[in-house]
Amino acid sequence: MRSAALFLLSPLNPMAKPYIPTADDAPSSYTWTWAGAAALTVVFGAVLALWPPDFGTQPEGYEAPTWLLFFGRFHPIAVHLPIGVLILSVLIEMGCVRRSVEDKWGDMALFTLFVAAVGGVVAVVFGIFLAREGGYEGGSFILHQGLGIATAVGAILALFLRLSAMSSGGSVAMIACRVVLLATMGVMSVGAHFGANMVHGSKYLTQYAPAAMASSMTSFEKWMLSLVEEKKADKLVPEAPKTTAPVESGAAPATGDKLVFQHVILPMLEAKCNACHNADKSKGDLRMDTYELAIKGGENGSTIVPGKPVDSLAIQRIELPADDDEHMPPDGKDQATAEELALLKWWIQEGASDKLKVSEAKIPVELKAVVDAALKGVGSPL
Ligand code: HEC
Repeated sequence: MRSAALFLLSPLNPMAKPYIPTADDAPSSYTWTWAGAAALTVVFGAVLALWPPDFGTQPEGYEAPTWLLFFGRFHPIAVHLPIGVLILSVLIEMGCVRRSVEDKWGDMALFTLFVAAVGGVVAVVFGIFLAREGGYEGGSFILHQGLGIATAVGAILALFLRLSAMSSGGSVAMIACRVVLLATMGVMSVGAHFGANMVHGSKYLTQYAPAAMASSMTSFEKWMLSLVEEKKADKLVPEAPKTTAPVESGAAPATGDKLVFQHVILPMLEAKCNACHNADKSKGDLRMDTYELAIKGGENGSTIVPGKPVDSLAIQRIELPADDDEHMPPDGKDQATAEELALLKWWIQEGASDKLKVSEAKIPVELKAVVDAALKGVGSPL
């Protein structure tokens, strides 16, 4: 006990003997690091076997135990440590390409890689637990989950390669370690991006990006999504045909033909609600990214009751006091404005139709300005 305390305090202790390494104490084996890396792999494998990642395989009505959901909520925190540490380990590794730096930093590189691998495993496990809450599906989720797992596996692999290079001086293993580490960082960046899209919506990063960059990012995303969404389509029963396309920017018809739902209501839902109520994340089992799904409602149905704003859960939830747990959007999120609420109420009152044209709708004077702004794309992320 006493020696442990002295050890921890030694950097602060002026009486501690300075450490002067000699040729004899160069470490030749990494027994404990090997054991640690092996234990990490076994634990990771066991958790994956016990709680397999969810690729749309979770049975309907599955109820996860509360403790598991509790740990799942730590995913958003836990995920950032390995991201930072993995970047740090790439930086250290870049220095270690030089022999003199490797001699000084080699052990540190190994340690950093170890922390990255442990952090990656913890983040993946918590992520799998978080997904047990249900409502996580769709391309971004599948990519985020798959690339996240690949990141943890990549970090473990790089760790073993470095360990083997350091224990037996293999240069091939060292080169392989660096290649794997670099690839892992790439995989992690893309995986993290899809995670961010799930939290902030898919336009978060591109909204203010220069046009050329935004379009290449969007087409890369589309390509990635097409890889997993095709596969999913093979497996699943075909979805009900969508008559209302999800928000497509660009392809808007002439003003006269613009539709109240498609061009005014939906963009508002996208901006204020659909970060949590979409294909990737359907909180409360509610999606509002197409007309049919918005009308279908969530767990409790009746999100939108045509002709009856008062009975529509969407309106009730927005009108709850901000500190009520059921208030929408939840506390701290970008709130619906009074005009947006009035607009939604008016549209529901008018029958909540997806066929109603802007040109034919009797829009109350006080809402004209909001409608115009929506049609011009001002104040919405489109
Ligand atoms: C930050 C995430 C988030 C945003 C943004 C958000 N919601 Fe929700 N919503 C949730 C969560 C979580 C639930 C499930 C828990 C609950 O019922 O309170 C939910 C549930 C609901 C439900 C209940 C569904 C049912 O059938 O039980 C409705 C209706 C709803 N939201 C409407 C909206 C509307 C309308 C907006 C936009 C004005 C919105 N939400 C924005 C997270 C969000």
